[in-house]
Amino acid sequence: MHVLVTGGAGFIGSHLVERLLAEGHTVTVLDDFSGGRPENLAAVLDHPRLRLLRGDVTDPHIRSAALDGIDTVFHLAAVVGVPRVLADPLRTLQVNVLGTERMLAACAQRGLPICLASSSEVYGKGVRWPAAEDDDLRLGPPTSPRWAYAVSKLLDEHLALAWARHGLPVRIVRYFNVYGPRADPAGYGYVIARFLDQALRGEPLTVYGDGRQTRSFIYVSDAVEGTLRAGTHPAAVGKIFNIGRAEEISIRELAEKVRTITGRPVPIRFVPLPEAYGPGFEDLPRRVPDVRQARTLLGFEARVTLEEGLKRTWEWWRACRRV
Ligand SMILES: NC(=O)c1ccc[n+]([C@@H]2O[C@H](COP(=O)([O-])OP(=O)(O)OC[C@H]3O[C@@H](n4cnc5c(N)ncnc54)[C@H](O)[C@@H]3O)[C@@H](O)[C@H]2O)c1
Repeated sequence: MHVLVTGGAGFIGSHLVERLLAEGHTVTVLDDFSGGRPENLAAVLDHPRLRLLRGDVTDPHIRSAALDGIDTVFHLAAVVGVPRVLADPLRTLQVNVLGTERMLAACAQRGLPICLASSSEVYGKGVRWPAAEDDDLRLGPPTSPRWAYAVSKLLDEHLALAWARHGLPVRIVRYFNVYGPRADPAGYGYVIARFLDQALRGEPLTVYGDGRQTRSFIYVSDAVEGTLRAGTHPAAVGKIFNIGRAEEISIRELAEKVRTITGRPVPIRFVPLPEAYGPGFEDLPRRVPDVRQARTLLGFEARVTLEEGLKRTWEWWRACRRV
């Protein structure tokens, strides 16, 4: 197949691109490099089956060129990460909503299947945990720009499912804190990247809040596997899938695990939330996926343990920094 990956120079996108090429597909990447980097694709940049387009998904001309000859689309391009969202909520909404709406319309016009990257952020503060795909959602008010990202992804999901009613084969994946090599410390599941970076520099690990908040983390190769299954399985059409691991860990325990795995006995420094994100920022005490839908319909189960994933990511950080 000829596959379009928008956001393919980003963290998850670059791993997806490598996997698609390894499986024999031809891949077009459309990325504006606002968050992604060409280095993320260093291993495949000269690949004869890779076409790399630099441009904005909201631009109709580049979008049309990117879709030329394409059989299926993975739409990952988005403004990602709390710092970027807080810095520019307007851009977040424009790229994440308009970019997606236009990509959906273009796919509908050409009859192309599309798999959309959404986020566990759509659960917001959560009604119950573990959260299942058709659970109610609980978001904060629009006066807090922090929620712009969640709202943008939620609106994307509505748009996709509305297009599905018009016959467009859409699939939606909600990622729960993906981590691994190439994760940007300023990106979405950046706490692991930040800790490893700090450990490498011999600096204190900064835990925001009291560290008792829990999260679940999924290693990037597992996230790619879940994405491919959702993006290709016939039973996935018109459905949403939590792509995550059921195991949860507090951020304080995570920091301790990073110290053990890296062998760097750096101190842990607790930073009050207002100091980290500005006044009024709401952190969430818990976030963990119900993974039954992906298991039942896709046969998908995350395989890489947190210990193994942290070790692999640490090795990558060390090799990157040549330490
Ligand atoms: N990493 C996670 O844990 C996580 C969790 C939930 C959802 N997601 C979603 O998964 C997708 C990939 O996230 P990621 O972690 O790899 O982030 P990332 O920032 O590394 O990747 C996003 C990519 O989109 C590109 N991009 C941004 N705006 C663009 C535009 N207007 N036109 C073209 N390209 C543009 C960026 O340059 C970047 O390469 C995103 O849709 C994100 O919302 C990620």
